[in-house]
Amino acid sequence: MEKYDILTNIPDKRELVKTTSLKFKKDLIDFFGDDYKNKVCLEIGTHKGYTTRVLSELFKKVISCENDIDLINFAKDLNKDKNNIQFLQKDVYTTSWNFKDIDVVFIDCNHEYSYVVKDINNAISLCETNKELLIIFDDYGLQNPWRGVKDAVNDFLEQNPKFNLVKFIGEDKGSDCNPRANLIAEEGAICSYTNKNLQRFWRIFENTLYSTGEVLSLGFEESEGLRIPDEYLEKQEFMIFRTAWGIGDWGIISAMPRLLKQKYPNCKVYLPSSKFIKKLFDVDTNIMELVFKNNPYVDGFKDDMDGEIFHDQYRIYNNKKTDIPLIEQMLKFWQFGEKEYQDSQPELYFSDDEKKLGDEIIKQFIGDKEFGCLLVSDRYGTQFGKYDEKTFNNETEKIIKFLKENDLPYFYYTFKPIKYTEFNFINQVLDMKNMDLRIQLYIKSKAKVNIGNQCGTNHLVSRYSNVYEVQRQFPLGHNFIKGETYL
Ligand SMILES: C[S@@+](CC[C@H](N)C(=O)[O-])C[C@H]1O[C@@H](n2cnc3c(N)ncnc32)[C@H](O)[C@@H]1O
Repeated sequence: MEKYDILTNIPDKRELVKTTSLKFKKDLIDFFGDDYKNKVCLEIGTHKGYTTRVLSELFKKVISCENDIDLINFAKDLNKDKNNIQFLQKDVYTTSWNFKDIDVVFIDCNHEYSYVVKDINNAISLCETNKELLIIFDDYGLQNPWRGVKDAVNDFLEQNPKFNLVKFIGEDKGSDCNPRANLIAEEGAICSYTNKNLQRFWRIFENTLYSTGEVLSLGFEESEGLRIPDEYLEKQEFMIFRTAWGIGDWGIISAMPRLLKQKYPNCKVYLPSSKFIKKLFDVDTNIMELVFKNNPYVDGFKDDMDGEIFHDQYRIYNNKKTDIPLIEQMLKFWQFGEKEYQDSQPELYFSDDEKKLGDEIIKQFIGDKEFGCLLVSDRYGTQFGKYDEKTFNNETEKIIKFLKENDLPYFYYTFKPIKYTEFNFINQVLDMKNMDLRIQLYIKSKAKVNIGNQCGTNHLVSRYSNVYEVQRQFPLGHNFIKGETYL
């Protein structure tokens, strides 16, 4: 069967004003192709079932709603050779839309503004968390004496960042396909609704925090080609900034001061002080001092900074390239070429006193022998802050296997006493839980292997030790760094 064969004997809008044009139907065939053959489409407004017939070719199942029983009977008869259409006699404005597993909604019912708004709200309520729903609109370009589909869709597009235009379809603006009046815009539109959490995009200008609103993804699309302004780079005074407060969050960009000084040898590189973070975000943290202490490429921790501060959220965001570490994405935005950001694994600089103390501890407990470090953080066995059996089993199994295969004496950090964990069989050297964090990092950096669940502290030593982590997030997204092994 050829792809447009289903259109045989299907009327155009010019012959039957209530249905969609043949161009609209062809565009549906082209847009969905074979990609939606295992998906479900809900049609709101069946009429005689002409577009339903096309949809039944494109989807695994079509549920079509109509309140006029004669029309339903006509549509059933027209489509009696199809076995994947469920016709429902239903008033879609007075009954609830209790449908499940809907991927696409085709809205083609009452075209008056307030009804279209109801349709849109009902449709998006069907979109499950972290899923996307496509919504097709007919009669977007219909000329009405009242506010109609176009106004409802456009208002929604403006007000709701989760709702986006994908494509216009059908006849063009000005078309005479509707015998009553030429179209005032394209005949139809396909929009997407994403039920994902939005993130807030912050700008920091003249020491003040501005929220530029909620966005689906932070930063700029690569296609926008945006880069940090030349004037800013010419000033040669940079502040490295993140809007997250974990040790790993700052650790993964810890090579930035050195790389900036390599590219701009006369520049000054600063970090925000705890006081500055407190003022902007009302967050108490000394994580910047912890990660960047002793770093010879840092000129200081500052309480303020002139002009705009370009931070992690400005990265050239490409959510398809989750294998590019955040620091590389940020440095690209800072006009670094590929060769210039190659060596961007996290780095740490220890003072002589810290080295002395760390070496003494190692010597006292282990002598000159090789050792490992085990880290079981409080996120062990959890997803989104809650215990998750699958994660727990995966992490337990993989860490145990690793520990058995790498029979070394281990320094360890476990969120609860090690004897109550599944890893109590190891050759235990010393509990590091109450040790100064920088000394812990020093010892970890000297270990032959570091093993644990996914945790920021491990990222920081991946330049110096072999780090193995059981992956918790899929994909890792901007937590990904090069050089670690994910189990
Ligand atoms: C423009 S037609 C649909 C055309 C059809 N989708 C096609 O492309 O051939 C709109 C349909 O919505 C139906 N309708 C209007 N109000 C309705 C309601 N409250 N509940 C269910 N269907 C309704 C009408 O009877 C009419 O058949």
